[in-house]
Amino acid sequence: MSFSLPADAAARPTPFYLYDLALLDRTLAAAQQAARPRAMHVHYALKANANAPILDRVRQHDLGADCVSGAEVQRALDTGFAPQDIVFAGVGKSDAEINRALAADIWCFNAESGEELVVLNELAAAQNRRARVALRINPNVDAHTHHYITTGLDANKFGIGLSDLAEVLDLLATLPQLELVGIHAHIGSQITNLSVFAVLSRKLNEVQTWLEDRGHTLPHLNVGGGLGIDYHNPDTQAVPDFEAYFRMFDQHLERRPGQQVHVELGRSLVAQCGTVVSRVLYVKRSQQTNFAILDAGMTELIRPALYGSYHLIQNMSSTGSRQLYDVVGPICESSDTFGREVTMPETRRGDLIVIRSAGAYGEVMASNYNLREKAEAVYIGEVLSGVKQKV
Ligand code: LLP
Repeated sequence: MSFSLPADAAARPTPFYLYDLALLDRTLAAAQQAARPRAMHVHYALKANANAPILDRVRQHDLGADCVSGAEVQRALDTGFAPQDIVFAGVGKSDAEINRALAADIWCFNAESGEELVVLNELAAAQNRRARVALRINPNVDAHTHHYITTGLDANKFGIGLSDLAEVLDLLATLPQLELVGIHAHIGSQITNLSVFAVLSRKLNEVQTWLEDRGHTLPHLNVGGGLGIDYHNPDTQAVPDFEAYFRMFDQHLERRPGQQVHVELGRSLVAQCGTVVSRVLYVKRSQQTNFAILDAGMTELIRPALYGSYHLIQNMSSTGSRQLYDVVGPICESSDTFGREVTMPETRRGDLIVIRSAGAYGEVMASNYNLREKAEAVYIGEVLSGVKQKV
């Protein structure tokens, strides 16, 4: 199916984020179809997109919530996720954030250091509660993705290094308010070479056996997120291959009877359903290149500027002869560039330009740099009535 804009798009002020909720439904259903028969639980990583209408859909499809801040925990609660379906990860949880999550009695804290365990124990004691914890381990597995979004290497700040695990376990034994329920790992994002998930599974198997040898049984394994999407083909590959992803864990992760396995997917669930819609402000022809200057910039979608990421860019208004353009935003930074030497039909002021696959890590990473106003979110498809909080 090729992409089209809703009939009223031309009448709307730009830029705006456009979300296709029917595609989101299909994507969530496909993920659940692959996960459920394997008794794997998908927790949606709110960090990818935390808009209430999106979260409402996620909840309707029965996914849990993976949160990385107190505000995300709060948003998950506000949009109706049950506390037992919420996990809280993050390398730097503040006391206030921990207290909020403790008070809500969420299912699990993914703890990233011994010091964090000590603080969690103290805060839980003050609330007269016990907290369930999973230890986030750093498995030292290379996800072969952009170095900014690789998280499972020894050089990264995340998780507990395997060589420190024995010490952390000794410490945990002295912390009466904490109950060890499992291990957690997340090795990176936009992973397209699925074989790294086999490597991760084998590492987790080793850690599990090592823990069992020390008398710890784990009711819960959390393998993180990271499944990548096809940024080049958002129409033909709109729904990622969840079957292939879950099959990797099926084949390589050693599960104990009754053990719960969680995955924390973000991007693969929401990226393809979101689009940045913008207008051409000016076309500037320089000696070297043609610039198509948009009214959207890195303030609406920072991924190209921050990671050099590719997003498909399409002119929805013109059918003229094809030419090359550098597609840039209005922000006072040279990195405010969505794509160089992009082939588009002849482009003029006022043309509508879409930047695809922007549903994940787009709106959530928006800023008001240059005092820009927040772009609006527009939804195609029914916004469910259960939305409690307006975004
Ligand atoms: N779990 C943990 C602990 C994470 O750190 C992340 C993402 C996820 C799950 C979800 O991963 P996903 O399925 O979305 O790959 N802003 C970057 C991506 C940063 C990802 C951070 N962690 C980007 O735009 O590419």
